[in-house]
Amino acid sequence: MSETLATDLSTEIARRRTFAIISHPDAGKTTLTERILRAGGAIQLAGNVRAKGERRRTRSDWMSIERDRGISVVSSVMTFDYGGCIFNLLDTPGHEDFSEDTYRTLTAVDSAVMVIDAAKGIEDRTRKLFEICRLRDIPIVTFINKMDREAQDPFALLDEIASALALDTSPATWPIGRAAGFVGTYDLRTKEVHTQEKLPQSDPRMVQLSEELELAEGVLPPFDRESFDAGHLTPVFFGSAMKEIGVIDLLDALVAFGPSPRDQVAESRTVKADEAEMTALVFKIQANMDPNHRDRIAFARICSGKLTRGMRLRHSRTGKNFAVHTPQFFFARDRQLAEEAYAGDVVGIPNHGTLRIGDTLTENEDLKFTGVPHFAPEILRRVRLNDAMKAKKLKQALTQLAEEGVVQLFKPQDGAQPIVGVVGTLQLDVLQARLKAEYGVEIGFDAVQFSLARWVTGSREKIEAFSMANRSAMADDLDDDPVFLATSSFMMRRTQEQNPDITFHDIKQIGLEIK
Ligand code: G4P
Repeated sequence: MSETLATDLSTEIARRRTFAIISHPDAGKTTLTERILRAGGAIQLAGNVRAKGERRRTRSDWMSIERDRGISVVSSVMTFDYGGCIFNLLDTPGHEDFSEDTYRTLTAVDSAVMVIDAAKGIEDRTRKLFEICRLRDIPIVTFINKMDREAQDPFALLDEIASALALDTSPATWPIGRAAGFVGTYDLRTKEVHTQEKLPQSDPRMVQLSEELELAEGVLPPFDRESFDAGHLTPVFFGSAMKEIGVIDLLDALVAFGPSPRDQVAESRTVKADEAEMTALVFKIQANMDPNHRDRIAFARICSGKLTRGMRLRHSRTGKNFAVHTPQFFFARDRQLAEEAYAGDVVGIPNHGTLRIGDTLTENEDLKFTGVPHFAPEILRRVRLNDAMKAKKLKQALTQLAEEGVVQLFKPQDGAQPIVGVVGTLQLDVLQARLKAEYGVEIGFDAVQFSLARWVTGSREKIEAFSMANRSAMADDLDDDPVFLATSSFMMRRTQEQNPDITFHDIKQIGLEIK
């Protein structure tokens, strides 16, 4: 590769900003998403005055079940440009029943914006999502929202974040005025005042600002890039998504220091984003997005290099090659063919079920990215089919939806009806609704005696012997890896003690090998 080409590649990659927004429900994620997209020109009209139901129907919501319930179930990606950067905003489902989907999405981002309600501070779900980010040391930018309402004191909020999350906080902006008098922010980095109305220095809010700034600069740590990149320090922004205060501060900061594409860990080595050869990781599958087309899209994050349309790629799991003729970019309203995409970008690749969550794509290298796990489900149910004539259709539909990650599928080795596993019961509702709407199959769920599922590894001989002895408690997952189903944690412990040569896993890493 010539030097200019290499420079082009690294310049393009350096201007990618791929991030997600995490928050507790109601903190303002949807509102902030809309405002960000509007600032990026992706939504012309974010519309302030809308009925609740209508407002919930943001462009990122695709499925009717979401509309009915007013929750965001699927995650999607929205691309826009702002300030010379290409932003990829990956939406995550807000409801905790879809935490596995959220986890997978977070494996594909380089930073996260954590939205906090200024009155409520750190809430339960904020904390959980933050912990997931911490597992991967994802840099976090904090946006304290709803400053236009009665809020906690900024110092108290900064303190709370620091102590609740064991994270250093550095104010990036400071609020000017409070509640109804909240008019704007002071940017500590650029030393600029951003207000919607011009305030004289004598305005009590400006006086308060200078007093607080003096204190803040005295006691709070300044922004430290290295510490932020390592996920140890969060710059904090104050604002009101609803009143569009502080949103531009946030975007400008992401342009200035929002991390560009990070290294990605594979089994054999760590891949750097600006390597010349293209590599990509499938982190999400979505089928039937458009009911008229019955398509299936694999969302792949480009981890290094550049993807061009028509490129031949190696599919690591099968070792087969295939050409990507119609990679797509997703915008708030529509999709478009992606002629080229760079590390950090997320492209949708239409396919007929070849691509699965966790799959690696390369130009030629035999490489497998790690870090897209499956978690043992917390609820198990047997699928009851109302119309026996549809057994074959059900099998196919369940496989497809399990490949998409809607539920986990366990096929009992004794030939009994399939068992599905989920983290939250809402997933079961989604499964039922989608089977009916998209495949015309009606099902119900029956309770099973099992409460735990564990992947088993060990020597082939030992596994076979163990499976024989426990036939009615053994199942195969989607990849035909063996799973032991236990009726209680007591039984699980006993089984473990009795079978020291077998290892039981509650997390399945992609690429789990059975020796
Ligand atoms: P979520 O996606 O995190 O669940 O939050 P969402 O944006 O849906 O916001 C939750 C509620 O908080 C909404 O009110 C929204 O209008 C309000 N909100 C969001 N940002 C701000 C802000 O900066 N200031 C104020 N004061 N309120 C904000 P709602 O009553 O549930 O809906 P609606 O009646 O506004 O449609």
